Amino acid sequence: MTDLRELAAVAAELATAAGEVLRRRPADLQLESKTTATDAVTVMDRAAEAVILAGLRDRRPGDRVIAEESGDSSGESKVTWYVDPLDGTVNYLYDLPQFAVSIAAVIDDVPVAGAVYDVSRDELYVATSAGGSTCNGDALRCTNQPDPALALVATGFGYDAAFRAQQADVLRAVLPLVRDIRRAGSAALDLCSVAAGRVDAYFEAGMHPWDWAAGALIAREAGARVDGLQGRPPGRRVTLAANPSLFGALHDLLVAAGAGDLVPPS
Ligand code: IPD
Repeated sequence: MTDLRELAAVAAELATAAGEVLRRRPADLQLESKTTATDAVTVMDRAAEAVILAGLRDRRPGDRVIAEESGDSSGESKVTWYVDPLDGTVNYLYDLPQFAVSIAAVIDDVPVAGAVYDVSRDELYVATSAGGSTCNGDALRCTNQPDPALALVATGFGYDAAFRAQQADVLRAVLPLVRDIRRAGSAALDLCSVAAGRVDAYFEAGMHPWDWAAGALIAREAGARVDGLQGRPPGRRVTLAANPSLFGALHDLLVAAGAGDLVPPS
């Protein structure tokens, strides 16, 4: 049997180690672009990822690893690791504090253990499936605000300009119906904020598994519901995380705003 606590300990250790790398932010970030001119990667994304990949090779040599910057390496065990060495790269680029390391262990497409390290706040979020989630060792609990009109809702946007225009249309319809919107710039931390009760909900379309796998588990284990819209699982289409008493009403509000029709470019 897979020891989920052992997987979570590996994720926590390597997320912290990568965070120590990111803390030493150099003056020259050697900026390059990826899918669009605004989708950035820096020398520090790569340095943090190298630390994590070396650690996984050492501690979990049989596992598959899918990492944001270096792609897919095969493995014969049933565990796949999703690694985002620097979630919130644009914030990091501008020296804004909202960025994190995100590492999840997934079995049969379901996140079972994970860690997200908020480097600036020195907050380590850890979760195992059915084992609860913690931040620096303290148990997490999402909010219980049931009313969308009083809900603080986090969201994020992709890098493709045409898709961002569609996301803006949805947001225009949603904004008057909720307490307010937050766009902090790190999907992993947005999901941890749901877990910690720092926002009531979060939704976004166009995420990759390394953006959301660890954070979704952390939010779920703090009592939140994390799902796609209209019966879909979380994934590239809209993923919604909310406290369970809010989920249904916010889901319907998002569908009415057109969020169910958002299909990100592949
Ligand atoms: C991005 C951040 C952002 C979200 C984007 C992600 P990256 O990840 O999580 O908040 O809105 O969808 O791609 O590019 O900083 O690793």
